[in-house]
Amino acid sequence: MTNGREIAMCGIVGFVGRGNAVKAVVEGLRALEYRGYDSAGIAFFKKNKLTSVRACGRVADLEAKLSDSESSELAIGHTRWATHGAPSERNSHPHSDPTGTITLVHNGIIDNYATLKAELEAEGAKFSSDTDSEIVAHLIAKEYKGDLLAAVESVLPKLDGTFAFGIVAKDKPDTLIGARRGSPLAVGIGENETLLASDAVPVLPHTRKVVFLEDDQVVVMTADGITVRENGKEIPFTPTEIAWSAEAAQKGGYAHFMLKEIFEQPQVLRSLVHNRIHIPEDASLPPELNMEGIDIPADYFRGISRIVMIAQGTAYHAGMVARNMIERVAKIAAYPEYAADFRYRDPILDPSVLVIAITQSGETMDTLHGVKLAKERGCKVISVVNTVGSSIARESDGVFYMHCGPEIGVASTKAFTGMIASLYILSLHMGLARGTIDAAEARRRAADLANVGPRADSVLTTANYIRRIAMKYKDNGNFLFLGRGTGWPLAMEGALKLKEVSYIHAEGYDAAEMKHGPIALIDENLPALFIALKGRRYDKVLGNIQEVRARGGKIIAIASHDDHEIDKLVDDVIYVRAESGIMNSIVCSIPLQLLAYYIAEARGCDVDKPKNLAKSVTVE
Ligand code: F6R
Repeated sequence: MTNGREIAMCGIVGFVGRGNAVKAVVEGLRALEYRGYDSAGIAFFKKNKLTSVRACGRVADLEAKLSDSESSELAIGHTRWATHGAPSERNSHPHSDPTGTITLVHNGIIDNYATLKAELEAEGAKFSSDTDSEIVAHLIAKEYKGDLLAAVESVLPKLDGTFAFGIVAKDKPDTLIGARRGSPLAVGIGENETLLASDAVPVLPHTRKVVFLEDDQVVVMTADGITVRENGKEIPFTPTEIAWSAEAAQKGGYAHFMLKEIFEQPQVLRSLVHNRIHIPEDASLPPELNMEGIDIPADYFRGISRIVMIAQGTAYHAGMVARNMIERVAKIAAYPEYAADFRYRDPILDPSVLVIAITQSGETMDTLHGVKLAKERGCKVISVVNTVGSSIARESDGVFYMHCGPEIGVASTKAFTGMIASLYILSLHMGLARGTIDAAEARRRAADLANVGPRADSVLTTANYIRRIAMKYKDNGNFLFLGRGTGWPLAMEGALKLKEVSYIHAEGYDAAEMKHGPIALIDENLPALFIALKGRRYDKVLGNIQEVRARGGKIIAIASHDDHEIDKLVDDVIYVRAESGIMNSIVCSIPLQLLAYYIAEARGCDVDKPKNLAKSVTVE
């Protein structure tokens, strides 16, 4: 570590109960590896003695260091994503004070660690890591006089920054304490066992009853249950029943989570649409849209002046797609923005602006801060989120849960198409509220979306064909993705997928922009993938294809199933069946995902855990 600042992403897990705590925590860490996988560690009680084991690398490297017999009734674990300095065993969690009295795992950043460290050093403290987390173990140990809860509660107010902690004391083998501020913490209540984790997935094999801690809450956990505390007092709590099954978070026979999640899309989209849209038999009636989570009167949507959509990465591309849908259906200006830029730009906002936050994890730090800024400026915030109980969901005035099930592959796939479908439903809702579409148009559009399951199924039947195309292009060092209209964000998403999982340099451009620079790159060594579905800008795209062809470029096209001309112009064609703009966006995403997956697989890349990435970016 260069500056002693500890990591802010990472995943933590804790278990206390009459099972095998080491096994439960290691399995939990595996489920959280998407949050980071530079190093991992565990601390557990064995015969009332607390032992820590840490390893550089993956959870599998940690497991290799744990002997089979290592079982116990309490364990805490950590998987790490380093932001500063190289990952090392010395900086891996768990961290303890020098006497080993207090041991903890931490997800977050203690902003005032330097001041606290200087104070401890002045008293003669010695540190065995460069992390801010270790300082907290020292501080709690200093206060500890046999009452762990009292010691923890006296130290937390001294900390500035963000944290989710799992904390144990060496003479309390039956008690685990959790605390949260700014970093997520889910607490599961099972039969004779309780668990904590950075999200609900590690908890699900044990129980579906989950309490999502709020900021500045502390939880005391034993095998018999939990108590939740705030401001030094016990408070009542209501567990959420999570619908996701533990099986849904397993690979289910696929080689990778990414492939499984790509193939889940027809089912995920079917159930998303089924839950949200009902088309009454009486043809004069509009579709009934289930807007559960968005308890905002229709009047509000009539009064808004514009919409700003904030998101990062793939979710931002979904916002770019949604811009066209919202403007066409709800007839209101809609602007996608990178949340990271939005939050620091001092954007012009007033209470007439609706802010829509788009996020799979619900924890992306920049998006979360964008939401907070929008609320400070008096804007309403609606979020489109996958992870139930996540920070952004809880900060928002309304939440549209996509319910895509856990997305474990680091590259986002099913959440992307889930976002597009969700934002389309939201745009229909706003269009009806604003009177910009009538019942007949709303029915037609809703019925079209309701067809998404079979359309997505039919693209997946071309998977082997796409794999063969992938084999042909897998050794190219560069790729261009081009499209117009909604084809442009899809091109950007195709390029992002390819670069993140295969490490091939790829760029996504509006094809209209090609002549303004990128065309200089075109030659026989640069394949260009065109999104060339029939629609408003089809002829323009054909013109761009001709331009690339004239310069000797190799061309792959994603084209409409009834396009019998395009194969004369391009080297490879992937045909998809779609009859409308919304369907185009969804069905076109799937071949892009498959192409990236198969190229990465052929290049031997670690598809589910690409280097340098983490699934939830909870740092700036
Ligand atoms: C790319 C990818 C990322 C995320 C981005 C936002 O495949 O997964 O670009 O889309 O980090 O994450 P969420 O949607 O969780 O806010």
